[in-house]
Amino acid sequence: NVGNSTNIMWHDCPIQKRDRQQLLQQKGCVIWLTGLSGSGKSTIACALSRSLHSKGKLTYVLDGDNIRHGLNCDLSFRAEDRSENIRRIGEVAKLFADAGVICITSLISPYQKDRDACRALLPKGDFIEVFIDVPLSVCEARDPKGLYKLARAGKIKGFTGIDDPYEPPCSCEIVLQQKGSDCTSPSDMAEIVISYLEENGYLR
Ligand code: PPS
Repeated sequence: NVGNSTNIMWHDCPIQKRDRQQLLQQKGCVIWLTGLSGSGKSTIACALSRSLHSKGKLTYVLDGDNIRHGLNCDLSFRAEDRSENIRRIGEVAKLFADAGVICITSLISPYQKDRDACRALLPKGDFIEVFIDVPLSVCEARDPKGLYKLARAGKIKGFTGIDDPYEPPCSCEIVLQQKGSDCTSPSDMAEIVISYLEENGYLR
């Protein structure tokens, strides 16, 4: 799909993904973290990046909040803008994976169809969807940025989980659960993801 572009042709480069992967001794892929605001996506993404880095693996984190400061600063939280946010980050993540990097995305990405569209951009096996399964009540009690309070007071409209939907993944590679009394740390959660990567041949 080339959208509105016409008369454009694809150019292949002699150095390909497999060559870069050989150099890096890892498999380029996208680890797609999805979950409510306050579920711990950014913290887990950083823990994962830190741990993989210490094992000599090249990672890059694409964080929704951060990318909305630059590339996606023109997008709001309306459904169509969230979809565009996710589409663009999916395309960027695809480039990182093609570069041989383990790209970790940290976005609410509330709609299943948008996550599915990102999965479809990548070769089979290169998209690892990770659901950070933390109940709304826990996220709201944490309220690290005070946004749930504002949303409940009607000062933020269309806040995910309050008056905008979050569709949990129906089938994903990994579920990281955080129940009320359970206190699995972000680094423990990161290690669960790393075990998956090890068991499935992403780290050589
Ligand atoms: S999305 O839905 O994937 O496009 O969202 P994302 O790019 O990940 O941005 C989520 C962060 O934006 C802040 N924020 C909101 N979140 C949800 N709904 C509304 N209306 C909203 N307005 C601002 C919030 O800090 C989210 O950060 P996280 O890290 O998820 O808490």
